Parts: sequence; C-alpha cells; structure tokens
Amino acid sequence: MFIAMRVLMTNKVDYLSKLKNNISPILKNISKPNILELGVRYGVSTNFFLEYCDQNDGKLLSVDIDDCSNVASSKNWKFIHCRDDDYEKIIQDKNVKFDLIYIDSFHNAKHVSKIIYLYFNNLKKNGFIFVDDISWILYSKNNVRDNFNSEINNYETFFEILNILNSNNNNISVNFDFTLSGLCKIKKISDSGLNKKRKIKLRNFSIKNFLRNILMK
Ligand SMILES: C[S@@+](CC[C@H](N)C(=O)[O-])C[C@H]1O[C@@H](n2cnc3c(N)ncnc32)[C@H](O)[C@@H]1O
Repeated sequence: MFIAMRVLMTNKVDYLSKLKNNISPILKNISKPNILELGVRYGVSTNFFLEYCDQNDGKLLSVDIDDCSNVASSKNWKFIHCRDDDYEKIIQDKNVKFDLIYIDSFHNAKHVSKIIYLYFNNLKKNGFIFVDDISWILYSKNNVRDNFNSEINNYETFFEILNILNSNNNNISVNFDFTLSGLCKIKKISDSGLNKKRKIKLRNFSIKNFLRNILMK
C-alpha cells in the first residue's frame, strides 16, 4: 500500500515536471491564454494550467467523460462532462480560438488523430497542440512499466502524428519529448487547415533492405 502510494506520488511529480519543462516556457509568454484540455482525471494538468490562467487572466476549458468537476476551483475554469469528440457541446462559438490544446484522454492513435483534426481550426496560428503518451519505451516488454496496451497505443500514436506531418509540413511543426510516457508538441505555423494525413512509406521491410542487411553482416 505504502509502496503503491509512493509510486503514484513519484509518477505525479515526474508527469508535472514533464509539463513544466515543455509547456511553461510557452505559457509564461502568453497573456490571457485560452486553453482547451481533454482528459482531466485527478486534475494534475488542470491545476497546472489554471495556475497560468489565474496569473494571466486566462481561461481553461476542461473536458472528461467522468465527472471531474471537483478537482479544481477557479472563476477562470469551466468543466464540461462529456466525450472529447462532442464538438457541438464543447465548442459553443465556432469562431473561438485557443492558444493551446492539451490531449490526454483516450490514448488510441486513430482517436488522437480524429481529435487533432476536429479542433485544428479552433487553434490560433502559432498556437500549440500537446499530445501526452507518445513514447512506448518504458511500456515495452520487460521494461519498468511493461504494458502491452500502452506500448502499442503510444507507438501507433507516435507514427500517426508523423503521418499527419507527412502531408502537412507547411502547416505544422512537430517535436517529441521522450521523457517517461512522452509528450508531442505540434505548432500551427500557417492559417490553412490540415491536409488529409498520408501514411509514410517505409522501406524497412523491402527486399532492398533485406539484401542490405545481408550484405552488411
Ligand atoms: C490519463 S487521464 C488524464 C490525466 C490528467 N491529464 C491529469 O493530469 O491528471 C485520462 C482521462 O481521460 C478521460 N477520457 C478517456 N476517454 C475520453 C474521451 N473519449 N473523452 C473525454 N475524456 C476521456 C478519462 O476519464 C480520464 O479521466
């Protein structure tokens, strides 16, 4: 019990420092930040974002399928109890623009891709989308967080984001932080919408690469 609590606390501290390292440098330069957060649970990210909103007169809109309405309290916070793809319920003004969208809800590659496309037009130019859980390293076999589902979902999410980038090099820039479960930073660099994603054609299973591997032995 004590050990489980310690692991939970350590994970929380590590998760928070991942957010601080990647997101604080961005948020501290935005006055009146407008943030959309998808996935609340215990409110670690919620309270992290609210600190900036409370300091800089910003607004945070948070969404979860569970009732997380009691994880924080601030005049700058609104919680919506629904699925993250319920666009009509979440976005009441179609012209609303966010500085930052944080995706930490259903960790499935197809779902994450759907959410990026769904809200991209509501992101300001030079705004950011952050996607949590894009590294599979710690979840791989015999590693510290050994977990089949997280390994595969995170691995697929990483490549799904690259497939989006493959057809959108003029619209977004993408960076990955592989600390712990990983975090992806997507910056919107043009006013255009996103092009349909295009699968990257890898040649690692090609005959040419097969022969290359034999010749290199
Ligand atoms: C990893 S937790 C979020 C952790 C949170 N960011 C934090 O800092 O504590 C994922 C959350 O997403 C919620 N969730 C899962 N699928 C969802 C969906 N399709 N729409 C909205 N919320 C979802 C779950 O209920 C859960 O609370």
